[in-house]
Amino acid sequence: MDYKAEILRLKEKLPVTIVGHYYQRDEVFELADITGDSLELARKCQLDNNPWVVFCGVGFMGQSVKVIAPEKRVLMPKIACCAMARMIDGSYFDDSVNYMVERGIKKEDILPITYINSDATVKAKVGQMGGLVCTSSNAYKIIEKGLESGKKILFVPDRCLGQNFANAMGLKSCVIGEGECDPKEADIICFNGFCSVHQLFTVDDIKFYRQKYPDILVAVHPECDPSVVKEADFVGSTSQLIKYVQSLPEDQKVVVGTEYNLVNRLRKKNTYVLSATKPECPTMNETTLEDLYRVLKSIEDGEPINEIFVDAKVAKYAKLALDRMLEIK
Ligand code: 13P
Ligand code: SF4
Repeated sequence: MDYKAEILRLKEKLPVTIVGHYYQRDEVFELADITGDSLELARKCQLDNNPWVVFCGVGFMGQSVKVIAPEKRVLMPKIACCAMARMIDGSYFDDSVNYMVERGIKKEDILPITYINSDATVKAKVGQMGGLVCTSSNAYKIIEKGLESGKKILFVPDRCLGQNFANAMGLKSCVIGEGECDPKEADIICFNGFCSVHQLFTVDDIKFYRQKYPDILVAVHPECDPSVVKEADFVGSTSQLIKYVQSLPEDQKVVVGTEYNLVNRLRKKNTYVLSATKPECPTMNETTLEDLYRVLKSIEDGEPINEIFVDAKVAKYAKLALDRMLEIK
């Protein structure tokens, strides 16, 4: 079957918006109506008028749309779960709060911030404690806002994002379970989660490229290890990386530390991938053209598959945490 032709036919016929994250396979990405980084996708979906959303990405992204726009029917061609989001659930979140309480910080003096790469149950716990969500493109602003409360920040689940923004803001951070982490001595206390794709990039990779091409620029995502981020010329979310690379003169060499599909699509000349191993996100790559076709066809047939539902109580509190983020421009 010609899946592309069938998808184009269904797109024309159905009141549906196809959403695609930058890490999707090219053949899926090029059929999306809305593209962007995690923050842009959440904002654009909220403003979109179609009753159906087909989200090509990972589970937490589809879930976030359902939470902020509950009237929409959200389907995912593959309900693929981001490996980092799986590292924390409600009970690990409670353990992290207890870790701080046992070391002398009162619960009411903790402000939790969760990276959007987390399950709705974790976002709900954060929302219930007065906390908020952040993404890689707005973490600086969100942490700044969090600090205004005068509370200690518990940052989950990505230890790299937490530490990288703490370093950028001149704050002290520590990671629970990594050496001595005394919450009284730190401004930001991080959960020990990480993205295995972004852990592939190392300082040795940067040294290799700089030795080979002395004028090369290095641009990385803030999910990379702090040692890598410290050596980079530019750090940013997926959208910010794209803007940065596209603003460079054509003859400027640049090496990029983020997922392969995005880097490969950026520009063909003078752009390199910061790893000898192909940095593919296995879950983002799960979605195929056939999956996209099947989910659209299920809407046409009146028997939708892979629909996202969120428990009403979880959705209520997760929405508080997401809305607090979306209110900050
Ligand atoms: P962005 O918010 O930069 O799109 O990142 C999402 C993500 O999962 C990166 O690994
Ligand atoms: Fe999750 Fe990493 Fe994949 Fe992003 S690249 S979706 S953080 S596993």
